[in-house]
Amino acid sequence: MAPRATRLRLRDFRNYERAEVALGENLTVVTGPNGAGKTNLLEGLYFALVGRSCRTSVEREVVRVGAPAARLEVDTEGEDHRSHRLEVGLAPGEPKRLTLDGSVLDRPPACVRPLVSVFMPDRLTLIKGPPTTRRAHLDQLAATLWPARGPVRFAYAQALAQRNAALARVRSGRSSTAALDPWDVELARLGIELMEARAEAAALVAPGFAVRAGELGLPERAELAYAPRSLSGEPAGLREELFERRPGDLERGFTGHGPHRDELVLRHGGRLLRSHASQGQQRVGLLALLFAERDLLLERESAPLMLLDDVTSELDSARRARLAEAVRAGGQVVVSATELEHVPGGIERDVTHVEVQDGTLRDRAPTGLASAA
Ligand SMILES: Nc1ncnc2c1ncn2[C@@H]1O[C@H](COP(=O)(O)OP(=O)(O)O)[C@@H](O)[C@H]1O
Ligand SMILES: [Mg+2]
Repeated sequence: MAPRATRLRLRDFRNYERAEVALGENLTVVTGPNGAGKTNLLEGLYFALVGRSCRTSVEREVVRVGAPAARLEVDTEGEDHRSHRLEVGLAPGEPKRLTLDGSVLDRPPACVRPLVSVFMPDRLTLIKGPPTTRRAHLDQLAATLWPARGPVRFAYAQALAQRNAALARVRSGRSSTAALDPWDVELARLGIELMEARAEAAALVAPGFAVRAGELGLPERAELAYAPRSLSGEPAGLREELFERRPGDLERGFTGHGPHRDELVLRHGGRLLRSHASQGQQRVGLLALLFAERDLLLERESAPLMLLDDVTSELDSARRARLAEAVRAGGQVVVSATELEHVPGGIERDVTHVEVQDGTLRDRAPTGLASAA
């Protein structure tokens, strides 16, 4: 069984002074008017589990205005079926403090907490933004599917930095071009490994992406494809390509070829989702991608916790029903909406309903919540 989150406590986080919420085993629906704190609650859950924000890199932003520090706690049920507690303490100007069951650590280990898959408006950069965002996402998916392959992307990045440093030395006359040889070999070896992981992950998720995109409302055919820069399938070939491009690299001062220039291409009706789709279609594309990935992880019994922020606002009722079906496929999901009626199945019995009003949580279901104290 995949780990799950059972209870969240916030202290001086965003507009919450003190709040506590029990999360449902399956679906938790968070409702409240605009500005109430729905997005903040989802962000708080992410922060407590992952140790950083999914919205901002300026962490002091999350500390409640006027408060000296924020504190988050999440209880989880781990792979070992035991309960664990992750805590984050954040005081501007001091190092962030993460603990697991009371012991300080750098980052929470995967076995005690669920992976978290987030749909928030800011996440649209995954669809609209530069290729680097999609590459990182694909690498993360591959690392989740095959943890043993996780380190290869870091090793590649390191070898790339070293080759670039070697290029700079050659440019300034401090070494000869032969100094690049070992880095070409290393970069080609790691590059092919990285490309293989990406190709396999993309091939696994592509069919589900097409299906989910159709269900959730993209009118034309949706496609996902890995587009590597190098067409070579083995290290010797990639090394050859790097060698051929050395003069250009030396002129520019950096390595212009290799998997750090790859793209994960998303198309709708043959056109790029990134540049040729409406904002609504891009949102659906993002949802379809996240659900297709979750379907894969469900098969492997490592379903992520999904945080779906304000996801229903643009969907018509038929699409909302499809979304509800996708949500019911299993795993833990937290959905926010202004109206409960927007979440089909949101009034069913096995659903935990939490109402937010000005940073205060209210219990709507018998087991739902111990409210703010
Ligand atoms: N650090 C903070 N301290 C106090 N209030 C904050 C902080 N950050 C955001 N807020 C407030 O949180 C509210 C928005 O909450 P949000 O979760 O985005 O609402 P919504 O329910 O619409 O998703 C705004 O009133 C905003 O001013
Ligand atoms: Mg919001």
